[in-house]
Amino acid sequence: MRVLSGVQPSGALHIGNYFGAIRQFIELQREHECYYFIADLHALTTVHDAELMSGLVRDVAAGFLALGLDPKRSVLYRQSDLPEIPELTWYLSTVTSMGLLQRCHSFKDKVAQGVIPNHGLFAYPVLMAADILIVRSDLVPVGRDQKQHLEVTRDIALSFHATYGKEVFTLPEPIIKDEVAVVPGLDGRKMSKSYGNTVELFGPEKAVRKRIMSITTDSTPVSDPKPKEDSGLYELLKLFAPAGEREWVERAFDEGGTGYGDMKKKLFEFYMETFGAARQRFEELQADPGEVERILTEGAATARETAAPLMDDVRAAVGLG
Ligand code: ADP
Ligand code: TRP
Repeated sequence: MRVLSGVQPSGALHIGNYFGAIRQFIELQREHECYYFIADLHALTTVHDAELMSGLVRDVAAGFLALGLDPKRSVLYRQSDLPEIPELTWYLSTVTSMGLLQRCHSFKDKVAQGVIPNHGLFAYPVLMAADILIVRSDLVPVGRDQKQHLEVTRDIALSFHATYGKEVFTLPEPIIKDEVAVVPGLDGRKMSKSYGNTVELFGPEKAVRKRIMSITTDSTPVSDPKPKEDSGLYELLKLFAPAGEREWVERAFDEGGTGYGDMKKKLFEFYMETFGAARQRFEELQADPGEVERILTEGAATARETAAPLMDDVRAAVGLG
């Protein structure tokens, strides 16, 4: 099976991205042919600062590699290194109805939040369809928020087939893991860079510690048992605790006597145990940007090779081949 997924470089990677997406990407590379890319063209719908953008692209690529993405098993590339993607996007745009895009929740949500939409934000699902269809991917691991975009991708592919009477695309299936809980942020809402409530994967150690120590908790006295329901701290501790420490977490909440401060210190320890080695590798990659660039360039060449026969079929189908 061919697997494909992308992550937008629109902010620093955080622990929600790891548990919700990257960990799964890395597991999938053991059994499948995987294509993972940095969705920089997508991020341009919201990031309009050249320096910030190029730094984020580099950091997300280095982050993936540091967390275990193996360039010998997976193809890692930058979306903008494949000029065929915007080309395919245009062919797809001409068979995509306005109504289909107007129904997309993620667009409607952004507008409801007060974002002034540009055309790119509106057309975003067509670009995403091109990402997916261009390498004929079978499986697309995504978060639940992206489920509708996968349905739109299939609709666009079917509309192309119906318009031209040729079946050039593979219809992709999403992989949405139900057991992946939503990782709570510092304030208990979903961790998201748009809420400013994240714990970064690769931020400076001191800053990470400070963020963890600032997790919102209630005012239960140290000696009392602590409520687990609606406790972001409890969820995070459960997520991070190694097997041998899970009982400690339960007891700390159920029995009382352990203050929230001590629990947060423990959470920081677990965080370092989980990500210490990856953080070390990230630093090494930061010191060697040529290596990251080499991997991305090689990945783009492989992805373009994979895309070439599909693009030939598409151009022929529309009469431009
Ligand atoms: P953000 O919400 O910070 O903007 P993205 O939308 O860029 O994050 O998410 C990239 C990937 O990480 C998606 O697959 C998404 O489902 C996953 N993800 C992001 N935040 C969380 C979270 N708090 N819990 C679980 N998964 C998350
Ligand atoms: N839209 C996805 C997100 O915001 C990122 C993305 C872009 C993607 N193109 C993709 C994911 C193709 C899967 C497949 O998370």
